[in-house]
Amino acid sequence: MKYHIITFGCAANTSDSERIASCYEARGFSKAKSIKDADEIIINTCMIRQMAEDRVYGLVNNARKLRTKNSKLKIVVTGCMVGMAIRDKTGKMMKMLRLRLPAVDAFLPIEEVGFDMMPTRSDPHHALVPISNGCNNFCTYCVVPYARGREVSRTLDAITKECKDLADKKYTHITLVGQNVNSYGADLIKDRKSKIKNQRVTYVKHLGRLRIPTLFPALLEKICGLKGIKDIDFISSNPWDFSDDLIDVIAKNKKISRHIHLPAQSGDNTILKKMNRWYTKEQYLALVRKLKKQIPDVTISTDIIVGFCGETERQFQNTVDLAKRVGFTKAYISLYSDRPMTAAHKTLKDSVSLIEKKRRWLILENLINKPNLKAGTYI
Ligand code: SAH
Ligand code: SF4
Ligand code: F3S
Repeated sequence: MKYHIITFGCAANTSDSERIASCYEARGFSKAKSIKDADEIIINTCMIRQMAEDRVYGLVNNARKLRTKNSKLKIVVTGCMVGMAIRDKTGKMMKMLRLRLPAVDAFLPIEEVGFDMMPTRSDPHHALVPISNGCNNFCTYCVVPYARGREVSRTLDAITKECKDLADKKYTHITLVGQNVNSYGADLIKDRKSKIKNQRVTYVKHLGRLRIPTLFPALLEKICGLKGIKDIDFISSNPWDFSDDLIDVIAKNKKISRHIHLPAQSGDNTILKKMNRWYTKEQYLALVRKLKKQIPDVTISTDIIVGFCGETERQFQNTVDLAKRVGFTKAYISLYSDRPMTAAHKTLKDSVSLIEKKRRWLILENLINKPNLKAGTYI
């Protein structure tokens, strides 16, 4: 029996697919050469934007056609679309999913795979290592807290043991993966303290909010100490919890990548507030200045959403201004997409037209990513 996995979405999904592959191999399956040779097709889904979701519907439809050659072909859907459906207490989303995808044999919640399964990795030198799953931040546009649930960190011991095993197997490059890697361990600290009488969690103010100092700097230092590991990076980090301690650890350890991905989403303070991103443009810029000062060879990339609910031209220009000031080496620019369950979906209007979102996208794309467009074609 042969399996074939198709993965949509972010590094967390890629990492999950490596453990899904191990589950199949443990059951005696081997990897199919292509989708056409598979007895079981597993689709690991993303629903961050409507387009990501639509691709899944299209793919299931195409996979279904392969049943004319292999009547026993099984189609399994997993990932964030399933995560979202199982967390919807009303059961409506699961019902919808079954209705829209009648060709699917099984919906696999990723929780059933867990973290303990040793991943089947295809690259012999570079490994993705998940350190946490889920998100507590509830940015108003984002489905991740619904699709993956609240943030749960793996233990420091489990992660360092996995990295040590990788070093023993001659891996040299490790990418730590989570939705907010720099929040790593805040939940572990909270849990540990709650079990000890009279122990209270210490909070510190960061970017205007009270946060628990996280274990991410300590985790990075531990992994830097592993012999054989030469390159360490992480995805995705956030402006919050990017503490002075974390900057110090990066500055001190040359094994850690000098490239930082720091999603800004917007450069306008009103929009940031509406997004529930609780830093201001000025605080973001101050953080960038600090990074550039303490890590002189640092480069910074970002994520930006254009056309968020009610975004005016002036507010968009504040994002353009932020991009000019930072000098991002790359930006993943998205057109705002209204997502079910989110606060923006419930309380705000997706008021910017598609054509205007595309115009704003092109301006930033041309400014930051410099495609081969002739100057002036987008203005
Ligand atoms: N945890 C990371 C991002 C994870 S989602 C962070 O907080 O920055 C990856 C990216 O998808 C986001 O940074 C955002 O730019 C984009 N995104 C998320 N929801 C979106 C939506 N509803 N519409 C358009 N883009 C979205
Ligand atoms: Fe969490 Fe916000 Fe990132 Fe979504 S965009 S994963 S809600 S921090
Ligand atoms: Fe998509 Fe889920 Fe990642 S919604 S971006 S695959 S966390």
